[in-house]
Amino acid sequence: MPKKNDALTVAKEKKSDEFYTQYEDIQREVNAYLEYNPDTFRDKVVLLPCDDPEWSNFTRFFAQNFEMLGLKKLISTSYATESKQAHESVQLSIYDFLTEFETSSPQYDENISPKRGKIFTLTRGSKRINFNDLQWKYLEGDGDFRSEEVSRLRDEADIIVTNPPFSLFREFLAWIMQADKKFLIIGNVNCITYKEVFPLIKDNRIWTGCRFNERVNGKIMTFRVPDSYPLTGTELFIGDDGRKYISVAGTGWFTNLDHGRRHQPISLMTMADNLKFSVHKEVKLNGYPFYDNYDALEVPYTDAIPSDYDGIMGVPVSFIKYYCPEQFEIIGITKTWFGMASKIYPQQIQISKSGIRSIVTKLNDGPVLKIQTPPEDTTYYMVDDDCFIQLYARILIRKKAYEE
Ligand SMILES: C[S@@+](CC[C@H](N)C(=O)[O-])C[C@H]1O[C@@H](n2cnc3c(N)ncnc32)[C@H](O)[C@@H]1O
Repeated sequence: MPKKNDALTVAKEKKSDEFYTQYEDIQREVNAYLEYNPDTFRDKVVLLPCDDPEWSNFTRFFAQNFEMLGLKKLISTSYATESKQAHESVQLSIYDFLTEFETSSPQYDENISPKRGKIFTLTRGSKRINFNDLQWKYLEGDGDFRSEEVSRLRDEADIIVTNPPFSLFREFLAWIMQADKKFLIIGNVNCITYKEVFPLIKDNRIWTGCRFNERVNGKIMTFRVPDSYPLTGTELFIGDDGRKYISVAGTGWFTNLDHGRRHQPISLMTMADNLKFSVHKEVKLNGYPFYDNYDALEVPYTDAIPSDYDGIMGVPVSFIKYYCPEQFEIIGITKTWFGMASKIYPQQIQISKSGIRSIVTKLNDGPVLKIQTPPEDTTYYMVDDDCFIQLYARILIRKKAYEE
């Protein structure tokens, strides 16, 4: 279940899409693919949609490393200021986006500038492949990735890389998949459970990138926000450079480019050893109960997955970053179930922690455990005389016949 106060959820609710990725985050991620296959980007056309050619770190990184990566062509496009502002519920200033670089360029036109996106193209064979030689022009339209103009650029590209607008993640991924392109994009752990995204993960058509929902040097992923962004909430702060930043929990990369981490199996203990030695009290005390509404074992922690169980297991969504397709297969997810639940509950009485009773139908939305006695510290549900608790969304997995 998504946490209501997670910064990305807040951003989504506020419809703020102006979070800018830091150079080191792009560099670190791209390096992981190069380590696995140095030719990942060789001879490729890379498209960076949703990236202002002048100040996006995506453009900066790929332009600066054009030759090292062996790129054939780099295309970077941006979204028009008026269109950006029209979709923002947070009031942002035009001066966040209009820079001296643009206004001092000979092609700058104050009437066109707010309405049209920009495009920057770098092609192998250009005399000098360097960010400082950056040349740009206005697009015909506002640079919306869904426009015919940008879709044509997508069709020309081999790999699409960006941090897309959070509020359009589903649409953005569908736009890439329609054209059957390789990609490397930023998203949130909650996206995994979306009904448009999960089937792609289950079928190994997309997966999590190298950094996903984790701290690097003790820090969660942090993005720059426009100077006029209202500074509210603990996740927003002013950096050493005097600029505004936001730290966003649960963020990471999604991709269909291969990398080494996804082929490293997790090392696990047997069920007997977990029951004796697990660091999780809950596992030692309760063991591994079966769900009431699906024939699978409840495994509350990824590191408590029993190595010797051959049936289906429900594991936390955070398992996904450790998922190695040679070690496990993904069977489904308990959030939407995709028709897999083995039982449909009639209306239930929900009894909250404070004892408030209400009639609900929530039990059908997730994995359910039948319990003998009503718990004191958690919400539970009664159907006739039977007592149940509902767990967080679980990914259903099964061990593969794997040999190291
Ligand atoms: C999360 S920000 C990331 C910006 C940049 N990719 C980066 O990581 O630094 C998403 C960007 O997409 C732009 N955007 C929003 N809707 C868009 C659309 N429909 N088409 C293209 N770009 C869009 C926003 O204005 C914003 O600049």
